[in-house]
Amino acid sequence: MEERHMEVVPGLAGILAAESAISYVDGEKGILEYRGIPVELLAEKSTFLEVAYLLLFGKLPNAAEYKNFRSDITYHTRLKVKILRMIEFLPENGHPMEYLQSVVAAMGMYYPARDVMDEEVRYRSIIRLIAKMPTIVAACERLRHGDAPIPPNNDLSFAANFYYMLFEKVPDRFTEKIIDAMLILHADHTMNASTFSARVVGSTLADPYTIAASAIGTLSGPLHGGANEKVVHMLREIGTKENARPYIEKMINNHEKIMGMGHRVYKTKDPRAGFLQICAQQLFKSDSAVAASNLLEIAEEVEKVALEKLAKKKIYPNVDFYSGIVLHAIGIPTELYTPIFAMGRVAGWLAHWLEQLKTNKIYRPDQKYIGLRNQKYVPMEKRKG
Ligand SMILES: CC(C)(COP(=O)(O)OP(=O)(O)OC[C@H]1O[C@@H](n2cnc3c(N)ncnc32)[C@H](O)[C@@H]1OP(=O)(O)O)[C@@H](O)C(=O)NCCC(=O)NCCS
Repeated sequence: MEERHMEVVPGLAGILAAESAISYVDGEKGILEYRGIPVELLAEKSTFLEVAYLLLFGKLPNAAEYKNFRSDITYHTRLKVKILRMIEFLPENGHPMEYLQSVVAAMGMYYPARDVMDEEVRYRSIIRLIAKMPTIVAACERLRHGDAPIPPNNDLSFAANFYYMLFEKVPDRFTEKIIDAMLILHADHTMNASTFSARVVGSTLADPYTIAASAIGTLSGPLHGGANEKVVHMLREIGTKENARPYIEKMINNHEKIMGMGHRVYKTKDPRAGFLQICAQQLFKSDSAVAASNLLEIAEEVEKVALEKLAKKKIYPNVDFYSGIVLHAIGIPTELYTPIFAMGRVAGWLAHWLEQLKTNKIYRPDQKYIGLRNQKYVPMEKRKG
């Protein structure tokens, strides 16, 4: 008989749900590795498509493998006219994560992938999801503001093309590198909530579009991917470096959570936050209009005050603390921060799906029942209250 875990563990903290060889975290030392390679090294030297390949297929691609993978991706970046029309009919005030979730779910109707045991079906749907998510995010953003979508420019890199589809402008090298690094840093993170969601849905042998749509929904919550947006709102509300201390102290005294701080796993500074802080410092050094914003100095003051008060509880900045500031500095609208997180994380979700399919078993945890038993059925006319 299987051994049963008799105590309920809130949030399943510390419960092992799977064996995985995709990413590794050491929360005490602040280490994150993809297939054994430190994430900062990949963010500095690699590209998102190379990293997606690494996560999905277990090794960095050689030149021929990379060429094929990149060409498969670029071939699939366009959206069907019907999908674009569908987007036009979605409400303008919907959040881009709601758009993304709806369109990704609908993709399953255009590209049926229900036979998940077929290797070709799996490969094609992985390619389509990675290739089309940036196009969907950019098209939704433009259409909801009444602008015509810009078709992908496949002469550009994956990251530069995303920026181009948003602004009809080729980004400079540093901006392109920042977007690419952002996707790499978000591409996987062990058994986080959205990956768990992807694994649960995948364990039913549902198709990959349904899996990605469910993971996007999970990622949209403010305790997961939505925190980066909230960080920028908070910094704007603080307004000046001088206001940071009283604002943060008041939050801590009121037992409110500071967005972008704390992590279930990291008990030191998140290595991705450190990398992004350096990017932000470089960006804010330049004298462009956006760089004139004081968000970074407010953020660094918030970090300082928060650490004075919260380091004893091992609360440090997580990836979301600096990712919003960096995206703000390169002119990305706030509501697109979490969709960009999803554009990177989809590689991780799908890698976990492929890994899990090899030894699949439907998730079916247990519960501890604490409700009533053996109650009588009371007819409506006799019910009180
Ligand atoms: C990420 C997060 C959900 C992890 O939560 P968790 O592991 O369940 O930790 P808990 O919520 O139990 O917090 C443990 C303690 O630290 C405090 N704490 C955790 N995050 C905090 C934060 N961001 N600001 C202030 N205090 C925080 C809690 O109040 C709690 O204090 P207590 O023991 O005195 O009650 C949590 O830190 C959080 O909500 N952070 C803000 C949202 C965020 O940035 N999310 C993005 C994650 S990448």
